[in-house]
Amino acid sequence: MKTVDLRVVHKGGAPAEPFRLQGWVRSHRASKQVSFIEFSDGTSITHLQLVVEPALPSYAAIAARITTGAAVEVIGTLVDSPGGKQKYEFRVSGIQLVGDADAATYPLQKKGHTLEFLREIQHLRPRTNTLGAVFRLRSAAAMAIHRFFDEQGFYYVHTPIITTSDAEGAGEMFHVTTLDLANVPKIDGHVDFSKDFFNAEASLTVSGQLEGEIVATALKKIYTFGPTFRAENSNTARHLSEFWMIEPEVAFLDLEGNMALGESFIKYLITDVLDHCEDELAFLHAREWVKEPGLMDTLKALANSTFEKLDYTEAIRILEKSGKSFDFPVKWGIDLQTEHERYLTDEHVKGPVFVVNYPKQIKAFYMKVNADDKTVRAMDMLVPRLGEIIGGSQREERHDVLLNRIRQMGLPEANYWWYLELRKFGTVPHSGFGLGFERFLMYASGMQNIRDVIPFPRFPGFARF
Ligand code: 4AD
Ligand code: MG
Repeated sequence: MKTVDLRVVHKGGAPAEPFRLQGWVRSHRASKQVSFIEFSDGTSITHLQLVVEPALPSYAAIAARITTGAAVEVIGTLVDSPGGKQKYEFRVSGIQLVGDADAATYPLQKKGHTLEFLREIQHLRPRTNTLGAVFRLRSAAAMAIHRFFDEQGFYYVHTPIITTSDAEGAGEMFHVTTLDLANVPKIDGHVDFSKDFFNAEASLTVSGQLEGEIVATALKKIYTFGPTFRAENSNTARHLSEFWMIEPEVAFLDLEGNMALGESFIKYLITDVLDHCEDELAFLHAREWVKEPGLMDTLKALANSTFEKLDYTEAIRILEKSGKSFDFPVKWGIDLQTEHERYLTDEHVKGPVFVVNYPKQIKAFYMKVNADDKTVRAMDMLVPRLGEIIGGSQREERHDVLLNRIRQMGLPEANYWWYLELRKFGTVPHSGFGLGFERFLMYASGMQNIRDVIPFPRFPGFARF
């Protein structure tokens, strides 16, 4: 007998003859005439109503154990539903209990648990409607990302997770070591990393970009998609210590081309997840914490819009003229804070916007310096409600200018010898960006906290599960 997933059943793929379902009980309502089991197998946002004759022997034997959370296997057929609530239901001809769920202790008894509470039970929260929908969306979005780049002729590159270079030069890295922490070898008061596993100071990567540039200047168009780690003490709803980033890198591409790539990428992703997960999105958008009416329409309209572009200098002028009193005062040279980004997107542009040409002091060492020697060819894509979801730039391809920047910023020059050498042998203009995968998921789903769009969030003070 065929076992069928609910997503197939709901797409009209149920066989006419009896078939099997495997999943979990959401609720069970027993009565003398007929019993109802609300059933879900996690493959679809929509549940299925199972209808059981109480006298059915396989049911009668286990009826008391068909509790919320219990795992069951049922056999039956799909029939038209007489009630108005659903079009069809499943008439059970046989049921088997696979795994009990103790009614007194199973935490997901009643509906409406807070997302905060669910973060404490990450081993069970994928079984809720909300987190289930998020994780199916996450999977679909990951597939869409690979599809987009494949269709555009990009090669997928795996950059290292353990690295000895700081790609952002910001020093926010987690150490990777096998040194005995109770007895650390030292020279002149400093840790002697030559005694460590890699004979060097190693860390978890903050970005695959630098290695991505190596391969882009060989295969032309590449992208990475992997986990990245930041040891920044940002306890916010938009920061994780471990997050996933998509980083395309393209040889012979300038900043304008880079923005065009970012714009078509976001549009493709939105269109694709609307195609594959509209039910999940509709469900998520209707949650009580989503305060944005018409989010679905906004997403649909995005595909046909043109993203605005603002020079950083112009953005500062707009913020100064806004009449708003920001917590962080605005003046040329500051890094844009979330409140500034949100004014630009939510109130000024009312949509996504690229901000370009930031002051060089506030951006990473690898960005191409403009002719004014004050700004760099950086681009951030900001979206309503979140602010930055993409950070990217045209890279500095001139050897001497790059070397100067590394020195000026006090970075350990020796660590970047290979990065500099790319500028000695067949250097080309090239550009790329990083999309924070979880930021994108927040944007599409309307989820308010980044900890709820990744199955196992890590943030300061928390790495459980
Ligand atoms: O702006 P960022 O730091 O840029 C880079 O890492 C570049 N090397 C990318 C490149 O040009 N290849 O990070 C890129 C994006 C941000 O725009 C944001 O969406 C996300 O990564 N991001 C985070 N997401 C979650 N938690 C954090 N702590 C994040 N830090 C950055
Ligand atoms: Mg950034």
